[in-house]
Amino acid sequence: MIPESFVQELLARIDIVEVVERYVPLRKAGANYSACCPFHSEKTPSFTVSPSKQFYHCFGCGAHGSAIGFLMQHAGIGFIEAIEDLASSTGMAVPHEERNASIRARTAPLTELMSRAMQFYRDQLKASPKAVDYLKGRGLTGEIAARFGLGYAPDDWQGLQPVFSDYNDPALVECGLIIVNEQGRRYDRFRDRVMFPILDQRGNVIGFGGRVIGAGEPKYLNSPETPLFEKGRELYGLTQARQAIRDTDTVIVVEGYMDVVALAQHGIGNAVATLGTACTPTHVHKLLRQASKVVFCFDGDAAGRKAAWRALEASLEQLSDDKSAGFLFLPPEHDPDSFVRAEGAETFQRLVAHPTTLTEFLLRELKAGVDLASAEGRARLVHEAKPHLTRLAAPILRVQLVKAVAEASALTQAEVETQCGLKPASRGRPAPPSARQRPAPSSVEYKLLQIVLHKPEWTARLPLELIDRSRVEGEALNAIANAVDHGELPAGGFGLLLEFFRNTPHEALVAGIAANMVEEVDLSALETMFTDSIAHLRQTALSAEIEQLTARAKQGLNPQERQRLAELLARKRTATPTPFGGG
Ligand code: UTP
Ligand code: MN
Repeated sequence: MIPESFVQELLARIDIVEVVERYVPLRKAGANYSACCPFHSEKTPSFTVSPSKQFYHCFGCGAHGSAIGFLMQHAGIGFIEAIEDLASSTGMAVPHEERNASIRARTAPLTELMSRAMQFYRDQLKASPKAVDYLKGRGLTGEIAARFGLGYAPDDWQGLQPVFSDYNDPALVECGLIIVNEQGRRYDRFRDRVMFPILDQRGNVIGFGGRVIGAGEPKYLNSPETPLFEKGRELYGLTQARQAIRDTDTVIVVEGYMDVVALAQHGIGNAVATLGTACTPTHVHKLLRQASKVVFCFDGDAAGRKAAWRALEASLEQLSDDKSAGFLFLPPEHDPDSFVRAEGAETFQRLVAHPTTLTEFLLRELKAGVDLASAEGRARLVHEAKPHLTRLAAPILRVQLVKAVAEASALTQAEVETQCGLKPASRGRPAPPSARQRPAPSSVEYKLLQIVLHKPEWTARLPLELIDRSRVEGEALNAIANAVDHGELPAGGFGLLLEFFRNTPHEALVAGIAANMVEEVDLSALETMFTDSIAHLRQTALSAEIEQLTARAKQGLNPQERQRLAELLARKRTATPTPFGGG
């Protein structure tokens, strides 16, 4: 990222009139300059450049911006390129700051603590024959244990005491290594457990999973969500799997830490695991960026099937026609770890190569619930297929699915499309579900949409799974995120954005917002608004989960759920309120 101060300094040194004049002949008109607009065709000049405001504006097409924006829009280049171009014309050198430097500055000390803890746990493993025997008993070699940084947390309430100079450091609590009880006593979260470090994309330790040795409850204890660790985004084993994912263009998603490690032990290195949570759209999004095939391989039991269904739902909006999601159902008594040990890597690889496709799985599940021999049952099939059809983002695949649904329900393709409110696919974006709310400018999604229209690249920081896609704004946000991700979104102002969304379900909404958008934005205010909005989303999600758990608490929660509830409540207490009056 380029520091905002540099951008300001650069803008102060250059003159927009000179920049525009490199491309468009300008004529002096009073205090300003005018020309026929280079961004749309016209005969009388409505394009104006203001030297005092260092701003251009077209009264005809609405194009406007700074010298940087002009260069981006006119030359079709990105922000950084435009800055570099302008800087070189003034002889200034562009300083490149690390992206999200302020976030990094805040989390770096925590990362450092986590990394020291990991090193300690790894050393302890070498000193614990019990833990080594356990891992050996599960078929792991030292090499694989080292590759995954496996460790052992000793059976000691304050095992980490000698590791850190100050055991009372609040940061140790913040990163989830230490727990403070009601009496204020501090103790290690992980005791007498085999430790699985969880790494982020850069290889930093952001959390741990700790397994009891043998039987015990809970079987796995995980780091709580912390400023470093967000379960709905992270995947276990991704760092170690990256090369194999690239080599095979396939990523296998499993449920457990041990599944990932055992598969790697058998030479199948392209597996990752969700972290005791359901697979989220953010997970799928992340994975489809790295491979064109995602194969979900969950346990063969009922819970595994349910997890597979949720993975299907998380995939619908992330797919495109050149990407696929497949499902692998193991025999009920197996998980990937036990299966690969019992049947061998080759058998497993053969299954991965030919998984149940998303359409097969979807149709099978939909058909299973209805009686296709009756008209009512066939109608119900179409009714149940509808939300999935509308959410499926791959237009060609959607046509295939429509055809299959049509066949099963004894309707024509056109009849299914009409009933499901599907128009023939336009530019690869899903048609809007029929009964959509009108846009609500007070919604957080609306606010976020306004922000990302200024800064489309910020969608990379959005927790997409928390965005309400039943809202038109949410849908548009998602479309922008996808476009940014696929490098489809043109840089350079609202005019181009509007063009991009022409003939899509988002056109009117985006145009409406752009028309009301203030001309100059204060980037730091925008950044604050953005982080606040995300905080608000998280708060809402947090409150919803608390509510759900509290409601269920009447029937009794299991120890993990109780712990989860306590964690959530603690997070809610420490969370800063947002301008929306969050949650
Ligand atoms: P499983 O119960 O399927 O365990 O949980 P597993 O992976 O087969 O573990 P082993 O083989 O008995 O060692 C799958 C995943 O669910 C989460 C963990 O991420 C685990 O890997 N989980 C499970 C927990 O977080 N806590 C638990 O108590 C159990
Ligand atoms: Mn297992």
